[in-house]
Amino acid sequence: MIGDGDMADKKRSLTGDRPTGRLHIGHYFGSLQNRVKMQDDDSIERFVMIADVQALTDNFNNPQKVRDNVYQVLLDYLSVGIDPEKTTIFLQSMVPELAELTVYYSNLVTIARLERNPTVKTEIAQKKDVFGESVTYGFLGYPVSQAADITAFEGELVPVGEDQLPLIEQCREIVRKFNSIYGDTLVEPKAVLPESANERRLVGIDGGAKMSLNKRIKGLDGNEKMGKSLGNAIYLSDSEEEITKKVMGAVTDPGRIKKDDLGNPDICMVAYYHGLFTNPEDVKIVCQECREGKRGCVACKKQLAANIIKKLEPIREKRKYYEERPELLDEILINGTKKAQEIAKETMRKVKANMKLNYFDK
Ligand code: TRP
Repeated sequence: MIGDGDMADKKRSLTGDRPTGRLHIGHYFGSLQNRVKMQDDDSIERFVMIADVQALTDNFNNPQKVRDNVYQVLLDYLSVGIDPEKTTIFLQSMVPELAELTVYYSNLVTIARLERNPTVKTEIAQKKDVFGESVTYGFLGYPVSQAADITAFEGELVPVGEDQLPLIEQCREIVRKFNSIYGDTLVEPKAVLPESANERRLVGIDGGAKMSLNKRIKGLDGNEKMGKSLGNAIYLSDSEEEITKKVMGAVTDPGRIKKDDLGNPDICMVAYYHGLFTNPEDVKIVCQECREGKRGCVACKKQLAANIIKKLEPIREKRKYYEERPELLDEILINGTKKAQEIAKETMRKVKANMKLNYFDK
């Protein structure tokens, strides 16, 4: 039937972020931009979750930090154009079914399998300061809780960065195991990677062939990863002054001391960022002049800072609009969470029925 069945044909997408800090341009190119683009696709019903429960797994001793960042992340979402009319934004902790599902799924996963999860393994190694020699049960088990998040919404599509692939794989295993024991109940999800979207908008720092994003945006210091703890990130909410200061401190070709020295843009972070923020013709000129020793690093950095500031300006403006309307933020979360609860309840009902836990259902 035309028009009808729309909802039935729709796929759901579910993704989320831990509210442990403000989001930076790595998140922007890595996933936010993709989520905004997906909003034009009417065949998808979209959910974005602020994963405060997951944030607590390694910030259990810092609840205020998590709470504050719930609003920072929400502001980041809204400022880049995630539209609450098109995407349901909700809070993980407000949907208790997610915790309930986690308990049932935890029977379907071995400790050894969790310990082998590459993402979790890397994170545990990085978080020695939080966990010391022995990791908590909650942190080790967060992939189970993430499987609950995804399956509660029958989230067939999961738009995430590359680092989340092992978590999606683990979710798929849980789904298969659940369905094989309790009967067909859960939907197996697929990850949607942002790479193709990114490659289209990037040019090589030589202005020629497309630059491969290498899965994630490098930090201003040349570190493979951009992150708060590394102090090498540009945040979506950074002021003009902060952006300029950070760009002026970026790592350039260390062999180039005087302006006339011939530069190598391939090893310069400023050139790399020009590739992200500057138009292709200008990138070509930047790189050529650098190689010929005709362009000083300071001028090059100033040009880059101006381009970043310009690109982030509409984002900063939108953020300001919402910052001045805190009641709107709560309203968005409350409405989104209500909608999320309804769907999670429905999944919970099916799960419990198939697990023979539907005691008093008629
Ligand atoms: N693990 C994700 C992160 O580190 C957050 C997250 C929680 C998530 N639940 C999810 C992502 C479900 C995708 C789907 O940011």
